[in-house]
Amino acid sequence: MTTPRWTDLAAFDELPDGDVVGRVVDGLEIALYRLGDEVFATDASCTHGHASLCGGFVEPDGSIECPLHQGRFDIRTGRALCEPLEQDLRTHAVKLEGGRVWISIAQA
Ligand code: FES
Repeated sequence: MTTPRWTDLAAFDELPDGDVVGRVVDGLEIALYRLGDEVFATDASCTHGHASLCGGFVEPDGSIECPLHQGRFDIRTGRALCEPLEQDLRTHAVKLEGGRVWISIAQA
């Protein structure tokens, strides 16, 4: 098992609650979501047509709606919730430390 490599992505305070922002890690666009006191991270690219979920809409139930065809994913698990999605979204580990948000990119 490999040791996770953590990357400092943002200050917690700069993330808008109930919204999504984009960051790039090692050339990969990541979507960061703040839901109250928690932060979650997924690939930003929709598994359906590769639209960026950073332009999507965070719903009150903790899902992200894709801006292109309105597919929805569970932000916490990456699970595809409705058509036209057929494939779940990859999620990444997040930790909060010293007021900063750190991410460990999941292996493909
Ligand atoms: S590109 Fe996201 S639902 Fe089609």
